[in-house]
Amino acid sequence: TAVTIVLGTRPEIIKLAPVIDACEERGVGYSVVHTGQHYSEELDAVFFDQLELPTPDHNLAVGSGSHSAQTGAMIREIESVFLDEEPEVVLVQGDTNTVLAGSIAASKLDCVLGHVEAGLRSFDRGMPEEVNRVLADHAADYLFCPTDQAARYLREEGVPVDRIEVTGNTIVDSVIGYRDLAAEKSRVLAENDLTADEFCLLTAHRAENVDDRARFSSLLDGVAGFASESGLDVVYPIHPRARERLDEFEIDLPSAITTVEPQDFLDFLRLESTARLVFTDSGGVQEEACILGTPCVTLRDNTERPETVDVGANRVVGVGPDAIAAGARDALDAGTDWENPFGDGRAADRILDLVGVGPATSVGGVSG
Ligand code: UD1
Ligand code: UDP
Repeated sequence: TAVTIVLGTRPEIIKLAPVIDACEERGVGYSVVHTGQHYSEELDAVFFDQLELPTPDHNLAVGSGSHSAQTGAMIREIESVFLDEEPEVVLVQGDTNTVLAGSIAASKLDCVLGHVEAGLRSFDRGMPEEVNRVLADHAADYLFCPTDQAARYLREEGVPVDRIEVTGNTIVDSVIGYRDLAAEKSRVLAENDLTADEFCLLTAHRAENVDDRARFSSLLDGVAGFASESGLDVVYPIHPRARERLDEFEIDLPSAITTVEPQDFLDFLRLESTARLVFTDSGGVQEEACILGTPCVTLRDNTERPETVDVGANRVVGVGPDAIAAGARDALDAGTDWENPFGDGRAADRILDLVGVGPATSVGGVSG
C-alpha cells in the first residue's frame, strides 16, 4: 500500500480521520491498522461510525495491559502487517503506546515513517506520553509539527531540519469539519439538563492524576469548590480508567460534579463549545477549547501545548484546590478573542502532499 495508518485510541481516531478522508478523496491506496488499545464501544466504534470511517483493515485486538506487555504485543503484530503490506509510508499520530509500537515496528523494517503531531514536549519524562513522543520523533523520517514552537524543539534536539515540516494540527481539520454539525445535531445540553454558558466541562483521565488517590481527590475538590463558589454546574464525561480508580479508591464524588458516560464527538464538541469553562488534563481538549474559544484550566503541572497558554486561552494550575479556583476565576475574567495557534484546518492535505502520495493540492505551506 501507499500509506499505512496506525491508530489505536480515541484521540488518534479523531485526529487521523482527516488524513483518512484525504486519502479517500485523492484515491490513494491506504490501509488502517487498529491496535485495539482502545476497544470499548464509547472510546472506539462510536468514532468510526460518527466520523464515517471505513472499518480498519486490521484490528490487532491487543487491549489493555502493562506498558511493555501492551507495546510489545503491538510491535509484534504490526510488524507482520508491515511485512505483508510493504507500505511506502507509515503514519502514526500523537504520543500513545500505539504510536511507540508503530514507530518501532516501522523503524526496524526500515519503512518510511511520518509522525503526525511531532515536536510536542512537556519536558516531564515521568509521563509515559513524553517518552513515547520523543522516541517516535527520533525514529521518524517526516515530522509533521502543529506549530513553529514544536519545530523549534525538534531543531534544538538535533533532528535534521529537512525532516521537519510545520503543517498545523489535524485537530483543526476535525473541529472545522464537525463543529457546525454538532451545533445542529447534538441534543446533549437538553439531555443533561444543561444551559449554555452556565456549566463547566471537566475531563480527567491521565495516569499521573487519576492513578494517584491524593491528586485525583484534590482536583475533584478544587473543581467542586469553584463550582460552589460560582454557582456553575460541572459535567464530567468520565474515561473508563478514571471510573475504575474512582471506585477502587472509594472517593466520594463531590455533589457539584455530575459524571456521564464518555461522549461521542459531536456531543463532546457541543459541550466544549457551550461550556463557560473547561477543566481538563487532556491534550486534545486543551487544543479544542482553544480552537473553539472556550477558556481552559489545565489540571496538570505542565503542558506540551504552551501555545494555548501563550495566546491566553489556557492556565496550567496543577491539582491544588486554591490554584484551581484562582485559575478558574482568572479564566472567567479574561477575554476569549485569542487567535487559534494550531493552523488553518488543512493539515491533512499538507501531510499527504509532503509524503508525495496522490495528486498534490495547492494548499501550500503554513507558518505555524
Ligand atoms: C491512553 C494513552 C493516553 C491518552 C489516552 C486517550 C498511553 C500510555 N496512554 O491512556 O496518552 O491520553 O489513551 O484516551 O498510551 N480501558 C477501557 N476500555 C478501553 C480502553 C481502556 O475500559 O477501550 C480501561 C482499562 O481498564 C485500561 C485503562 O482504561 O486498563 C487504561 O487504558 P490504556 O489504553 O492503557 O490507557 P489510557 O488511560 O486509555
Ligand atoms: N472526546 C470525546 N468524548 C469525550 C471526551 C473526549 O469525543 O467524552 C474527544 C475530544 O473531543 C478530543 C479527544 O477525545 O478530540 C481527546 O482524547 P483524550 O482526552 O482521551 O486523550 P488526549 O488528547 O489527552 O490524549
